[in-house]
Amino acid sequence: MADISYFDKNEIDGRTKVCMLIGNPVEHTLSPLIHNTLAGLCGINMVYVACPVRPGNVESAVRGAFDLGVLGLNVTVPHKIEVISSLCDIDHMAKAVGSVNTLVRTEAGYKGYNTDVSGLMRALRSDGVSLKDRDVVILGAGGAARSAAFLCAEQGSGRVFIANRSVEKAEELSDAVNGYSGTDLCKPISLNNLTALDSNSLISIQATSVGLYPDTESAVVEDPAFYEKVEYGFDLVYRPGNTKFMRNIRERGKKCSNGITMLLYQGIRAFELWNHINVSDEMSAKLLVRLKEAL
Ligand code: ATR
Repeated sequence: MADISYFDKNEIDGRTKVCMLIGNPVEHTLSPLIHNTLAGLCGINMVYVACPVRPGNVESAVRGAFDLGVLGLNVTVPHKIEVISSLCDIDHMAKAVGSVNTLVRTEAGYKGYNTDVSGLMRALRSDGVSLKDRDVVILGAGGAARSAAFLCAEQGSGRVFIANRSVEKAEELSDAVNGYSGTDLCKPISLNNLTALDSNSLISIQATSVGLYPDTESAVVEDPAFYEKVEYGFDLVYRPGNTKFMRNIRERGKKCSNGITMLLYQGIRAFELWNHINVSDEMSAKLLVRLKEAL
């Protein structure tokens, strides 16, 4: 691809904006590829770097970034909760989820957003899938599942079942979402009880770490009867690109995507917030090609 980076054709100069990722570890992140490619595609004089920050140092890192004029930050594991106390303001969805992955510079400090939620929404939309009025099964109750569950509440899903190995965590997540939405939308359910669900057109969002490389021959649900009930699947895992969960759904002639598009769109949304632009579908498609090449 010709336009890989803004700096193929231009110099870093006195006006170059800096954005960064803080997390621990950060060595394997694809975010620099996402944002430096977007800067090139959009012709924006911006550079993005990944910075390892140890737990306990988040507040000083954010303060230092602000003093250095950093335009925006992404935040990844394990800092998405700890960073909240360093913000001057927080978007309503990030506050509800209790997790922030994007900081946007304002005069008073950084405002926090959660672009994982909107990233998942745009990823599903790119498959032509809407969560409205649909019955959804979320597998997992960790940070990734949390984003998916709050998105379901925001989008007006029908019923949302949260299935997790540790049932207490599924109960906690259900309570949090129900408290936010003022409904009894979410119900915790045992991973062993999914075939009892009375729906045959489920959307299933796989948000556990099961199936992640190198554990490529495992799925968090092995019972074939569950997959008969799934009409569409989305696996937040993208390494490998075709997990056992995905294969189980595709073998039955149903559509299932991996999490690369969620990664793509969470990055695009952060880039849009920092630079006050809309990234076109054409540019998103070009970036997706680059991401797939890099995997
Ligand atoms: P993330 O931020 O990616 O969501 P996490 O918060 O550590 O990561 O959550 C990992 C999820 O994968 C959890 O739902 C976890 O289940 P528990 O809450 O019971 O630990 C789930 N998970 C991890 N390994 C699992 C396994 N072998 N079987 C079933 N679920 C598993």
